[in-house]
Amino acid sequence: MRDLIKKLTEISSPSGREDSIRNAILEELNGYIDGYEIDKLGNLIVWKNGKTNKKVLLDAHMDEIGVVVTNIDDNGFLRIDMVGGVSPYTILNSKIRFGNVVGIVGMEGETVNELRSNLKELSFDKLFVDIGAKNREEAEKICPIGSFGTFDGHFIEQGDFYVSKSMDDRIGCVAIIEVFKRLQQPTNTLYGVFAVQEEIGLVGARVAGYNIDPDVAIAIDVTGAGDTPKANKRTSMKLGKGACIKVKDGYSISDRKIVETLKELAKKYNIPYQMEVLIYGGTDARGYQNTKAGIPSATVSIATRYIHTPNEMVHKDDVEATIQLLTKYVEEGI
Ligand code: CO
Ligand code: ZN
Repeated sequence: MRDLIKKLTEISSPSGREDSIRNAILEELNGYIDGYEIDKLGNLIVWKNGKTNKKVLLDAHMDEIGVVVTNIDDNGFLRIDMVGGVSPYTILNSKIRFGNVVGIVGMEGETVNELRSNLKELSFDKLFVDIGAKNREEAEKICPIGSFGTFDGHFIEQGDFYVSKSMDDRIGCVAIIEVFKRLQQPTNTLYGVFAVQEEIGLVGARVAGYNIDPDVAIAIDVTGAGDTPKANKRTSMKLGKGACIKVKDGYSISDRKIVETLKELAKKYNIPYQMEVLIYGGTDARGYQNTKAGIPSATVSIATRYIHTPNEMVHKDDVEATIQLLTKYVEEGI
């Protein structure tokens, strides 16, 4: 599983450009599914037949946050905007990968005072990307306007932790892949949705939910952790304390029955878990919840430090607990 996490997080596939990650996930599931479909927006939908005609859907988004080239100046420097939630502070001085090209993000400033004030109120207007081009013509050839890029992070395993870019939400993709691999036969038909464009507004989940119309949908995603120095004191989630069963976040309230079932299963099988209330953010659960006539939805999360940076950090035990909990949920059926 470690190698799979490394492989999937190192793939550069921002929202709207999910082809490479989709191919890798599909290849990994070969032999573990009864069928698959790639829908019109690019969602990868896989399934394994169950014994009843009920449908359980597990979702992880396969896109990651990134940037898009908006303009190129005469000297070949790029201007960019974010694709999904990227902070200009995070991206400053980082490496951005546009396919085979890597750019460095720099900041304008002609005087010390200007540099100071730009840093104080940093925005994408003050940032540029240096791809080592001689001039506009050369830059246009290798990285034209409209090119999508992502962080150029690399996977690290250190002690009990994994660190990489795009743990959000490739770690959720890995969890679903593992559920499919470990399952014998699911009670209900199991759908795995590897959704597109979550980071720009739950786009893929909404249409996948409409298409499949499952009896329940559970999104698997990362969530904020409150266990670093002076972290938000209203956040309880900690790395290494188990799968997070989400009660609420900024976008949705989890279906109460799903939450209770997950809690009971965790207790019954001694799977470490923690209750989660996130005071911001949201997941694909919201996309499912208000599709069609309404789909009971919830989220199981993996507590993550440094979300939406090139160094998203998770705890090995939480990943394992999440997979075990979801596997039990699917095995026992609804
Ligand atoms: Co995200
Ligand atoms: Zn996410």
